[in-house]
Amino acid sequence: MSRSAHPAGPRHADVLAPSASHAVPSQYTGVLNPRVWPSSARRVDGELVLGGLPVSRLAREFGTPAFLLDTEDLRGRARDYAAAFEGADVYYAGKAFLCTAVAGLIAEEGLGIDVCSGGELAIALRARVDPERLAFHGNNKSVAELSTAIESGIGRIVVDSHLEIERLAELAREAGVRQPVLVRITVGVEAHTHEFIATAHEDQKFGFSLTNGEALEAVAAVLTHPSLELRGLHSHIGSQIFDTAGFEVAAHRVIGLLATIRDEFGIELPEVDLGGGLGIAYTEADSPQSPQEIALRLRAIIDSECALAKLTAPRLAVEPGRAIIGPAMVTLYEVGTVKPIALDGDTVRHYISVDGGMSDNIRTALYDAEYTVVLANRDSQEPAQLSRVVGKHCESGDIVVRDCWLPSDVVPGDLLAVAATGAYCYAMASNYNRVPRPPVVAVADGSAGLIVRRERLDEVMATDVGWYPAHEDSPINAGVFG
Ligand SMILES: Cc1ncc(COP(=O)(O)O)c(C=O)c1O
Repeated sequence: MSRSAHPAGPRHADVLAPSASHAVPSQYTGVLNPRVWPSSARRVDGELVLGGLPVSRLAREFGTPAFLLDTEDLRGRARDYAAAFEGADVYYAGKAFLCTAVAGLIAEEGLGIDVCSGGELAIALRARVDPERLAFHGNNKSVAELSTAIESGIGRIVVDSHLEIERLAELAREAGVRQPVLVRITVGVEAHTHEFIATAHEDQKFGFSLTNGEALEAVAAVLTHPSLELRGLHSHIGSQIFDTAGFEVAAHRVIGLLATIRDEFGIELPEVDLGGGLGIAYTEADSPQSPQEIALRLRAIIDSECALAKLTAPRLAVEPGRAIIGPAMVTLYEVGTVKPIALDGDTVRHYISVDGGMSDNIRTALYDAEYTVVLANRDSQEPAQLSRVVGKHCESGDIVVRDCWLPSDVVPGDLLAVAATGAYCYAMASNYNRVPRPPVVAVADGSAGLIVRRERLDEVMATDVGWYPAHEDSPINAGVFG
């Protein structure tokens, strides 16, 4: 299945097409596959329990929709990455999901954080993450963002264009610091899920191309500035990657450039950052590698490539986002309506509408992402029914789970839980249809607490200042604000 965004947005034309690829289960089981669900997820008397708490209780206390974060699961994943990559640097990619509590927890587990905006940087600093453990990415960092980063003492800035190199060099010079930087290289590898394509040139906005000499020119440009300290090279090849073949090609090309840099400039750069993109299980069909397997492969590639090039192996860094936060979160929704829709032949699909949708999870509409969903507040012995979980938004592409089998007796008031929604769901949430964003609730060991509270409607409207504030006597303002 294609995972690239459709240029026209959601696939309106085939929204009703029945899925041929899913086997019909004889009965709904609601089984929780441990690869897909957070480590504390289990059923007790038929009900989904997370962090020791039944979801019906969480729904009563915090409302729905709500993101539920299993903090022990998150800690476990962070710890596994830190251990597997001991002697290397693991930066959690904050773009997947960032709030103060998660930034703090990630730092406690020994990981750095990669940020790609002033907002993400502010959150990491607010969480008192050591600035030395932060890396700043992005193809268009503003002068204000770069200044704040430099002033904070940020560990690495990943430079992405010649303009930025000049801008950053000047800002660092003015601030009287020598800013450590990595140069982002486009290695001509595009990887998603099980596939990767190695191309000669990439027509995309990030980095300096390796193939046409731009990367070497960028390195030369950085080296001309005493206010910049060139630490190494950075590459990021894609997302939701399940094998290391794409990384092998990327590492081969990055190490090749390190050798060229040594030959041209007489320096051996001490760091290589291979970016993020490590895959997770959204459904039981997905089988990601363990952090240990990935670390072993990446180290082996770097070591063998460096041995061939007669280079000292650089310090490795990786930037997993999805692989750390993705499986640790679940979205809890309440069912509002159920509508059977007759498809071809005898097939009927239940459209189950929940109280959130594309405003809290845009990935299904944007990338045709697949998810696992279960009836969460109770068990059911009823037959499985071909179903589609849809949101409340005014858009036919507002689909949360495109094809699933849920019991035929799902009714309004039931709770549905969607697994593995930790990455790029809340982070990409919007106020579409002026819907306030859901809360994020941390659960562990039988207790629960808000780490991001639910947005209120007055907050959604707070930026709406009315018709030309200067015209205070306008009849529209009088009606609305009078
Ligand atoms: C530079 C960089 N690093 C890390 C990541 C994190 O990717 P993932 O969450 O798939 O691990 C991304 C995602 O786009 C990225 O662009």
